[in-house]
Amino acid sequence: MESRVGTGFDVHQLTEGRPLILGGVEIPFEKGLLGHSDADVLVHALMDALLGAAALGDIGGHFPDTDPAYKGVSSMKLLEKVKKLIDEEFYGISNVDITVMAQRPKIKSYINDMRKNIARTLEIEESRVNIKGTTTEKLGFVGREEGIAAQAVCLLYR
Ligand code: CDP
Ligand code: ZN
Repeated sequence: MESRVGTGFDVHQLTEGRPLILGGVEIPFEKGLLGHSDADVLVHALMDALLGAAALGDIGGHFPDTDPAYKGVSSMKLLEKVKKLIDEEFYGISNVDITVMAQRPKIKSYINDMRKNIARTLEIEESRVNIKGTTTEKLGFVGREEGIAAQAVCLLYR
């Protein structure tokens, strides 16, 4: 059996007047993430990890932010497309692990719903999906609440 590891990293700016969507869950907060799609930074990092493991490039290559088709699109829809690409290469998903870096809000109470969304879309058990949150101890752009970053790793097999 062949195993393939992939990593992903993404950052989006926090701004007023946008909903905050992480892992397909809308989180009540005074600001949201700016982007062409719904700016779900967690799902973006995850998609880049999956594409990376399969040597399929990155989300910018598959879903250009200049393409009006992807304006305001749900990142879970894009994750569905990435899952299809992974299927076409006959890969199975062993596990995914995602870290969200946000000073605020605390994501802890939303993690179960996020895991459900991702497990359903990737057609894997929830036990194969881990999500965690961390602050940056008020340091840097995350600490100043100017943006949220996410980092993901995945393992594929075939
Ligand atoms: O070093 P550590 O990440 O444990 O400490 P922290 O950044 O102060 O965060 C404490 C805990 O709060 C984390 O372990 C997470 O369980 C949770 N947390 C969260 O749910 N959402 C965040 N945006 C940040 C932290
Ligand atoms: Zn992104």
